[in-house]
Amino acid sequence: VRLVVTGARGRLGRAFCGAVPAHHEVVPLGRDELDVGDHDAVMRGIAALAPDAIVHLAAYTDVDGCERDPDRAFRDNAAGAHHVALAARACGAAILHLSTDYVFDGTKGTPYDEADVPSPISTYGRAKALAERLVRETAPEHVIVRSGFLFGSGTDHLSIQVQRVRSGGTGVGIADRVGTPTYVRDLAERLLPLLLARRWGTYHLAGPEATTWLDVLMRCRALGDLPGEVEPQRAVDVGLVAPRPSFSALTSVLVRSTPVPPFPSLDDALARFLAGA
Ligand SMILES: NC(=O)c1ccc[n+]([C@@H]2O[C@H](COP(=O)([O-])OP(=O)(O)OC[C@H]3O[C@@H](n4cnc5c(N)ncnc54)[C@H](OP(=O)(O)O)[C@@H]3O)[C@@H](O)[C@H]2O)c1
Repeated sequence: VRLVVTGARGRLGRAFCGAVPAHHEVVPLGRDELDVGDHDAVMRGIAALAPDAIVHLAAYTDVDGCERDPDRAFRDNAAGAHHVALAARACGAAILHLSTDYVFDGTKGTPYDEADVPSPISTYGRAKALAERLVRETAPEHVIVRSGFLFGSGTDHLSIQVQRVRSGGTGVGIADRVGTPTYVRDLAERLLPLLLARRWGTYHLAGPEATTWLDVLMRCRALGDLPGEVEPQRAVDVGLVAPRPSFSALTSVLVRSTPVPPFPSLDDALARFLAGA
């Protein structure tokens, strides 16, 4: 199939483009090539590429930045997704749209599945929840994937902290926020099989264990025999601008009826991450 990928230079975008088997054709678009917030550019640019499917990974992902600049959050994340969905419909292409565990408020206390109703508490979460709705209402052939707590891209929180602990320094991890840590490569490998299955709808794709970044960093230190120290942080002491759910772990009641394979255990993912594989 011929795939157009937005946000292709981002963390997930790079992993996704690297995971697509060679017999498919990929047109990777960074922000310089296509600003998804520009309606006319999206309609013109995507029609000219005549894709079979669009993998929409572009987003303004700075959660605190979104809180400070809601105009940009809604432009890039909600209007942007709407434009890409309109372009998909206009050229008869399917769309895979990436969403987030931050569409939930964190009060459930057990992992969120696809039957749970979004109730975002941040501007980023509100913009992403609106994006989901716009994609759903606009493009009949859509797959919406919610994920969260991505690691292993080289520039994410865990990658940076592991680098510190590996070089003998002190890494920090929040001890009182729970999510489902998800190795970016494991997520990237599952997106195309889900899209090609043509089971249109909303799915949760995330690692299999609910835990904290502190626990993940301590496991990395043990698994990799890393020389540095690990210190716990409390979310309230980090002083972040945007509110975040204290519990945003994801599970799925739908993925098991698709051809998408289950995620490997967290320790398996961490071992591959530490080995650079
Ligand atoms: N990282 C996570 O833990 C996580 C969790 C759940 C869901 N997600 C979702 O996964 C998707 C990919 O995220 P990621 O982690 O790969 O984030 P990322 O590394 O920030 O990548 C997003 C990319 O989108 C680009 N972009 C921003 N605004 C744009 C615009 N108006 N037009 C075109 N491109 C634009 C960014 O370019 P610039 O760098 O130039 O701004 C960046 O290259 C997003 O939809 C995000 O909401 C991520």
